[in-house]
Amino acid sequence: MNFYTRLINREHPLPEGYIPEHLIDIGIPFDAVPGDPKRLLEVKTARAAHNLITQSRREGLNLYGISGYRSFQRQKELYTGSPYVAAPGTSEHQSGLALDLSCPQIGMELTDEFASTPEGIWLSRNASLYGFILRYPKNKEQITQVPYEPWHIRYVTKPLAAYLALTGMTLEEFHCLRESKAEIR
Ligand code: DAL
Ligand code: ZN
Repeated sequence: MNFYTRLINREHPLPEGYIPEHLIDIGIPFDAVPGDPKRLLEVKTARAAHNLITQSRREGLNLYGISGYRSFQRQKELYTGSPYVAAPGTSEHQSGLALDLSCPQIGMELTDEFASTPEGIWLSRNASLYGFILRYPKNKEQITQVPYEPWHIRYVTKPLAAYLALTGMTLEEFHCLRESKAEIR
């Protein structure tokens, strides 16, 4: 399984000591001071996020990075048992492949209201063009086991992002399909 397309969830956690090899500062407007690890992303993901934000700004939108990379330790500190915060080892943020975005219109919060802002609408329509998916969609909560998060995007490469956007599948459903095809072979 490709690093970029791997499934990370409760059933498929990352090892406690896992730290992505190439983490870089995203270099996009971020609601965190320079040097804060949350500004980091895996290098290909960071480039894709940079392209996405640059294009959205050209179109007059005001997207800000809120949270990128989070270490196992940081996830442990944040973990409260809320379904919005993954248990340590099960967060995509530990992989450096996930990014939370928001905008000033909703005070840079990570709330459902983001989905109806021009920034949230643009993101849901355009994320796949840059290789990202909205990882926790509405009405798929039973499958992802995470509530609707219109602000959380996950880099999966452009081909897979296009496939998932066209089929409406989650990453869980895609992996399930791959496994069932492998069994038939
Ligand atoms: N909010 C997502 C589930 C996370 O903590 O990774
Ligand atoms: Zn997130």
